[in-house]
Amino acid sequence: MIPFVDLKAQYVSIKSEADAAIQGILNSCQFTLGSEVHAFEEEFAAYSQATHGIGVNTGTSALHLALLAAGVGRGDEVITVPFTFVATVSAIDYTRATPVFVDIDPQTFTLDATALEAAITDKTKAIIPVHLYGQPADMDPILEIAKRHGLVVIEDACQAHGAEYKGRRVGGMSDMTCFSFYPGKNLGAYGEAGMVVTDNPEFARTIRMLRDWGAEKKYHHVLKGYNFRMEGIQGAVLRVKLRRLETWTEARRTAAAHYDRLLAGSGIATPKAMPYARHVYHIYAIRTNHRQAWQDALLGQGIQSGVHYPTPVHLLPAFADLGYSVGRFPHSEQAAKEVLSLPMFAELTAAQCEEVARALRYLATEIAPAPALANAT
Ligand SMILES: Cc1ncc(COP(=O)(O)O)c(C=O)c1O
Repeated sequence: MIPFVDLKAQYVSIKSEADAAIQGILNSCQFTLGSEVHAFEEEFAAYSQATHGIGVNTGTSALHLALLAAGVGRGDEVITVPFTFVATVSAIDYTRATPVFVDIDPQTFTLDATALEAAITDKTKAIIPVHLYGQPADMDPILEIAKRHGLVVIEDACQAHGAEYKGRRVGGMSDMTCFSFYPGKNLGAYGEAGMVVTDNPEFARTIRMLRDWGAEKKYHHVLKGYNFRMEGIQGAVLRVKLRRLETWTEARRTAAAHYDRLLAGSGIATPKAMPYARHVYHIYAIRTNHRQAWQDALLGQGIQSGVHYPTPVHLLPAFADLGYSVGRFPHSEQAAKEVLSLPMFAELTAAQCEEVARALRYLATEIAPAPALANAT
C-alpha cells in the first residue's frame, strides 16, 4: 500500500522529541497560548521572514482575523480565486464582505494576475492570492496592482510553508500571510492550528486582541473578538517539527523531481514549477481526462490518490448565493475536472515514486490515453 500521506511515518521519526514536547505542556499546564506558543510564533515568523507571528486555532481563523484587521466588512469586496479550498472563501464570508473571483492561470493553478484589474471596483478592499499546492502566485504584478489601487494583500499560504518567490520566503512580501498547521500540511500540528505573520505592528496588535476575545489586557475587551487561541501542545509540537521543515521540504522536492523525471514523455501533464518559485509540493497534481478510472485503477494496485478540489468554490451549493454559473471561470472548472494528486510526503521513497509512475504510464498507454493537455511533458 502506498498511502497518499503518511503521518505515522513522520511521527515515528520524531517520537521521542514530540512526546517530550507534549509532556512538557502537561507538566507546565500551559494548555492555551503560553511560552511554547510564544516561542513558536517568534521562530515561525523568523523562518517566514516576517517580524510578527500570531498563533491561532486554524488557518481559516488566520484568514478571518487578517481580513478583520484590514478593516474588511459588510459592503466590501475581496478578490480571490475559485480554485481553492473552501476555507479561503468562507473566511471572506465570515466578515460579511462579498467574495469576487478571478480565474486561475491554467499552468500554475494560481491567480491570473492579467485578469485581476478587471475585477476591481470601488468596493474592493483586499486581494487574497492562494499559493495553491505549495507554489507561490506570481506576486509582483499582484502587489503592483494592489498598490496602485490602495488594496490590502493577504496571502493564503496555508499550503506553502517555506515556499519562495524570486528568492523571498512567503511571509514577508505582502501585508499579511496566513498559514494552516492542519495535521496533513507540510508543517502539521497534532490537532488544529494556524498563524498570521506580518511586518505591520498595528495589524499584529489587532489580530492578537481579536484571537483572545478582543482583550487589550485581561477582562478589558476593546474589540468584539473571538476565542481563536493556539493550544500549548500545538505550539510545542510545531517547534519540534519546524526544526525539520527544511529537510522535509527538500525531501518533497526530491520526490517531485523523481515523479517529473519518471513521467516525462508519457503524455501525462505534470505540475509546472515556475522559474520564480521554490515550489514546496504540498500537493503534486497531475492532470488527466480519465480521473475516476485512473483513481480506481491506482487504488486497485494499492496506490492512494486525492482530488484537490473536485468543485471550484463558485459552483459549490454553499456559495450559490453569489450567483455564478458554469462556464464563468473555465480554467478553474477544467482544473477541477482533471487534477489528480499523487502520494506526496517527505518520507516517500524513490521506489514508491517508481511504482506510482509505472502504474500511471501503463494507464496512460493501455487503459485510457490522455489527449494532449496544456502542460503535458
Ligand atoms: C488553501 C487553504 N486555505 C485555507 C485552509 C484552511 O486551513 P485550516 O484547515 O487550518 O482552517 C486550508 C487548509 O485546510 C487550505 O488548504
